[in-house]
Amino acid sequence: MERFCALWCLLWCLPRPAAARSPPHLVLVLADDLGWGDVGWHGSAIRTPRLDALGAGGVRLERYYTQPLCTPSRSQLLSGRYQIHTGLQHQIIWPCQPSCLPLDEKLLPELLKDAGYVTHMVGKWHLGMYRKECLPTRRGFDTYFGYLLGSEDYYSHDHCVFIKPKNVTRCALDFRDGEEVATGFKNMYSTNLFTERAIDLIANHNTEKPLFLYLAFQSVHEPLEVSEEYMKPYSSIKDEKRRHYAGMVSLLDEAVGNLTDALKKYGLWNNTVLVFSTDNGGQTMAGGNNWPLRGRKWTLWEGGVRGVGFVASPLLKQKGVESHELIHISDWLPTLVHLAGGHTNGTKPLDGFDVWKTIRASGGTKVSCRPLQIGKR
Ligand SMILES: *[C@@H]1O[C@H](CO)[C@@H](O)[C@H](O)[C@H]1NC(C)=O
Ligand SMILES: *[C@@H]1O[C@H](CO)[C@@H](O)[C@H](O)[C@H]1NC(C)=O
Ligand SMILES: *[C@@H]1O[C@H](CO)[C@@H](O)[C@H](O)[C@H]1NC(C)=O
Ligand SMILES: *[C@@H]1O[C@H](CO)[C@@H](O)[C@H](O)[C@H]1NC(C)=O
Repeated sequence: MERFCALWCLLWCLPRPAAARSPPHLVLVLADDLGWGDVGWHGSAIRTPRLDALGAGGVRLERYYTQPLCTPSRSQLLSGRYQIHTGLQHQIIWPCQPSCLPLDEKLLPELLKDAGYVTHMVGKWHLGMYRKECLPTRRGFDTYFGYLLGSEDYYSHDHCVFIKPKNVTRCALDFRDGEEVATGFKNMYSTNLFTERAIDLIANHNTEKPLFLYLAFQSVHEPLEVSEEYMKPYSSIKDEKRRHYAGMVSLLDEAVGNLTDALKKYGLWNNTVLVFSTDNGGQTMAGGNNWPLRGRKWTLWEGGVRGVGFVASPLLKQKGVESHELIHISDWLPTLVHLAGGHTNGTKPLDGFDVWKTIRASGGTKVSCRPLQIGKR
């Protein structure tokens, strides 16, 4: 009897984690190469009304850091571990390189699956593909739709490589639905495709189960491609690269707007935590801008590693605040797993920290309605 009581008490008397009622849906949106000075709330001439509004209704992370490059940043995001511990510190994973995020690392989607989540990934992987075991669907994602390398044409989804000894350029389709090559998407802009797929997954999600959606957009990495209509509002921008880029950022902004509309429409939003992050600083040679931060993608200056990011959620205690706490891209794994009511038992020693308390209790500077004017670009 005593033992029964003790067990009963263990189950019912101990303080239960806040997430115990029903774990929140977790939506992680990653932009590619979006720079510090490319968003409305940092005073950019590029208009990002949807992102501005989401950040202004959530917690903007103003001292948030990433790695200076795609593969290292993405590896930390999904493993919670620095790239120096996974052998991915050298650069990116190149198309023919037999490398991937080591298979003995337990990744965020696997931990969330253990916690009972349905897990989907849409977009750019860039964590290796030289063998099937490296693919997203073998690393914890129930479904995958996107491309496996670092960059490609937004419409044809071809990745081209210049082969030096032969002096030729070879192109190949890099687009997958699950593990199959997806051929039916030519001449469709990737950001629209990825948004449609994400909305489809949201619309068909059984809301009794918690959802983890990792949406890693191609936007706004080079090549600078976008239809004229998105560039029109920026005819005053003289620099052609910047004008193209501005249109691409606007389209990304619209995509995130559509995504959040869908989360609301299908009844997920009131129990969702949405994290928005860039993977690294902007590439100034390809339209990006990190002003007033020095440097760019590939560099260790602030412009390379200080990232644009925010958390938006009805579950936040304080909304419309700026956090100036140090937060790192490797923190998302322990933070999201904690929110999910899961555990990180199967992982190697993590470098990231659970920062939910810091984010949720952010009481810093109230976000003003007018974006901070830090100069003209
Ligand atoms: C490589 O190809 C280009 C274009 O066809 C040509 O102009 C160039 O001479 C070639 N270089 C070598 C080393 O063959
Ligand atoms: C957003 O939704 C509108 C209305 O359905 C659509 O016209 C537009 O193409 C969508 N944009 C993106 C980027 O998904
Ligand atoms: C969230 O929305 C759903 C559907 O509109 C509703 O059933 C549920 O009670 C809401 N939950 C909270 C915590 O407000
Ligand atoms: C995780 O590890 C801790 C400490 O070793 C243990 O108490 C706990 O039961 C483990 N949880 C699961 C779900 O394995």
